[in-house]
Amino acid sequence: MTLKQVDSTNNFLKIILSNSKPVPEGTVIMAEDQYAGRGQRENQWHAEPGKNLTFSILLRPSFLSATDQFDLTRAVSMGVFEALEPILGAPLKIKWPNDIYYADKKLGGMLIENILQGSHIKNAIIGIGININQDNFTDKAGNATSVKQILQKDYDLKNILSEICSHVEAYYLHLKAGRIDFVRNIYLSRLYWLNKEGQFRSNGKVFTGMIKSVTDSGLLVVESNGEEGIYNLKEIEFLNK
Ligand code: BTN
Repeated sequence: MTLKQVDSTNNFLKIILSNSKPVPEGTVIMAEDQYAGRGQRENQWHAEPGKNLTFSILLRPSFLSATDQFDLTRAVSMGVFEALEPILGAPLKIKWPNDIYYADKKLGGMLIENILQGSHIKNAIIGIGININQDNFTDKAGNATSVKQILQKDYDLKNILSEICSHVEAYYLHLKAGRIDFVRNIYLSRLYWLNKEGQFRSNGKVFTGMIKSVTDSGLLVVESNGEEGIYNLKEIEFLNK
């Protein structure tokens, strides 16, 4: 379903889930103009109307326990990555936990909101925002880029949307079939700054470190001065050039 205008496609999906009509798994809600998009860490997500992909997919991974939630993040990140890689090539990476990066710039991101039932996931709202045909970004957007800025041409939003949905589905089916190690390994191999020295900040301290792995539950493992530190999203920041 495409909406002309909505605050946030994630909010919209949440609302229709709480209404009485059943919402089928795989429902995709796309917005032409999402005027109050939400990002990670309580950030806002800005996207010029009509030029970018802002959408949410409903999944019901009842086979995943709450402790394995990060496997869904891995699967969706890989789906988005593999849909965009044929267009953009090698500089494409996944910046932990789930940003899509081209060289040192952010092309998009996702906000996955899981609704738990007991120790399992009942509904997963997979919100994805990818910059496609936007030419300019305000300074507020930091280091954002778009497919258009990289390749100097416009792309059809619906085509890219359908590529992303089919690749996300393929990875979701890997998870469902229990191919967890495959998903974990391929996600790790696509990580930005994996086994490379980079500058990080944690607890107000800047340090040089190297990403070594991601724990099963999704924490980042960074080695610095021969010691490994384990961080959650709020505890570590990448200091990009
Ligand atoms: C991030 O990088 O901080 C995550 C951005 C996620 C944005 C998408 S756009 C569609 C969906 N609806 C929202 O309100 N947010 C997500």
